[in-house]
Amino acid sequence: MIYAQKEDFFIMCGITGFTGKVPALPILLKGLESLEYRGYDSAGVTLVTEDALFTQKRKGRLADLESSMDVPSFMQTTGIGHTRWATHGVPSQLNSHPHTNEKETISIVHNGIIENYQSIKEKLIALGYVFQSDTDSEVIVHLLDHYYQGDMMEAIQKTVQQLNGSYAICVVTTDHPDEVYVAKDSSPMVIGHSENGSYCASDIPAILEYTKDVVILEDGQMAKLTPNGVAVFDFAGNALETKVTHIPYDMNAAQKGGYTTFMEKEIYEQPVAIKETMRGIIDHGQIHLPQLDAVDMQKIQYVHFVACGTAYHACLYAQALVQKWLGRIVTCVAASEFRYGNYPVNENTLCVFVTQSGETADTLAALKMSKEKGAQCIAVTNVLGSSISRYADQTLYTSAGPEIAVASTKAFTTQLVLLTLMVFDLAKKEGREIADGDAILKDLQRMPEIVKEMLEKAPLMDQYAHFLDNQYDAYFIGRQMDYVGVVEGALKLKEISYVHADAYLAGELKHGSIALIEKDTVVVALATEPSVAAKTISNIEETVARGANVILITTQQQDAPGFKNVIRIPDIHPVLATIPVTVLLQLFAYYAAVHKGRDVDKPRNLAKSVTVE
Ligand code: F6R
Repeated sequence: MIYAQKEDFFIMCGITGFTGKVPALPILLKGLESLEYRGYDSAGVTLVTEDALFTQKRKGRLADLESSMDVPSFMQTTGIGHTRWATHGVPSQLNSHPHTNEKETISIVHNGIIENYQSIKEKLIALGYVFQSDTDSEVIVHLLDHYYQGDMMEAIQKTVQQLNGSYAICVVTTDHPDEVYVAKDSSPMVIGHSENGSYCASDIPAILEYTKDVVILEDGQMAKLTPNGVAVFDFAGNALETKVTHIPYDMNAAQKGGYTTFMEKEIYEQPVAIKETMRGIIDHGQIHLPQLDAVDMQKIQYVHFVACGTAYHACLYAQALVQKWLGRIVTCVAASEFRYGNYPVNENTLCVFVTQSGETADTLAALKMSKEKGAQCIAVTNVLGSSISRYADQTLYTSAGPEIAVASTKAFTTQLVLLTLMVFDLAKKEGREIADGDAILKDLQRMPEIVKEMLEKAPLMDQYAHFLDNQYDAYFIGRQMDYVGVVEGALKLKEISYVHADAYLAGELKHGSIALIEKDTVVVALATEPSVAAKTISNIEETVARGANVILITTQQQDAPGFKNVIRIPDIHPVLATIPVTVLLQLFAYYAAVHKGRDVDKPRNLAKSVTVE
């Protein structure tokens, strides 16, 4: 087994660019097609000549864009293309990229999030700029227009100085019709060259057909592409040596970023996904979630968290936080049950609907019912413009990027992060004191690094997953907040490896289920909650006495004498321990499924989005 330890290749939108000796349009479209598997909501291209830019964009599929153009008739040899995964502004033709300046002499595409776009936009409007879209990206083209005085590299240098956030941008102008410019910080960009010209893209698959030798730009770098080659610079304009990386794998592997499966890739994307989700929310120790200003907490007597599957497990976690920090009656209900359970839902109720896809039928139906009854409704989703976000009063977005594998991984851990921030902020807004509040926020900010440390345990989890080679069952046990890790770990194992797995509160085992424990039964035990860890350890000992093969996940400090298979998570506030624990359990399920030869990305009987009740 080769363990994945790759670059943080995390992508939301798709970018392609070309300048060369052959028509650009087929190259741009083909490149976007190779990035299509990740999902997008609109697509567009700009082609350049010295006389004019030609920009075409469409909401919906790339095929719709393609069929709206007579491709062979476009002979321009320079252009840029984009598939958009909406983050600011709903999917629509106007919000699609490329964005152009008013004179239609400069066009840009952007991947990432500009955190300070509102303040830049206000300044640009004051200077007379008119905005066509709701996107954060449009500020870039107007800034370029503002700074451009004949030298686009200089205009880009001045523009990037104004931007906070993450970006990979790609620029063309009629003034230099055979040049493409790129710049990046915290979003990926690769460039390459072949005898036909120079290419850039947000990910390797888009250029792999033309060259296997690529330059992976680093943060703070920009580049100029011409038909004859590529030149790399830092943001001060100093020329840099180009570092060429040879890509040994084929297109199929490249789409998975060199990982074996999408699930593996998405597990490894978690440090970046978590960082992106927190981006712009935690600032100088303060939480910035303006969507919550609209929630009138004075009125709220009940809080309901409603979701399905893995998202339901995120709700269990949020429920525990509300109990700790918010002092309200709180329930966590499976969306498929919510409408039938006679829960109190009225204008004094806050309902939070958590869903990766934003399209799950049961969750949507529960939301519609809650709205009809006058509840205040918040959605937590990963997909901008999804049905749930359109119905909810307010929406908070995880920024996990498209999740392709059926089993949810990065969506779950980003939900945990965002829900923590949400409950924390609601409590603060009420003036409630949160025990260890500062420490919790600090640890959240360390979470990308902590998750990286957990990913380094992949070889160990692979080894432990072999315990299941000849087993048909596994038991996951824990108490208090560890119960969230327990239910999620068991679900992940079941759905991708088809090993039967049960989740129990550790103290409940002796009330019946311990009858199932026999020699070599695999028990995964979580003991990260200090107040009950010693008790959990006693429960585990009861299983050891019956021959169980125990894997124990616990803290650095916890005494665990006599246990052979112990993994200790880094020091972290106990309320956050579910996040690193989950990453370990994802790896455990993943390797168990791989050992059993399962189709990890597409487990039997399951669909990524469940749009039927
Ligand atoms: C499990 C999994 C499912 C989803 C559930 C809800 O790995 O992915 O249990 O969590 O179907 O889906 P969303 O979050 O899209 O509402």
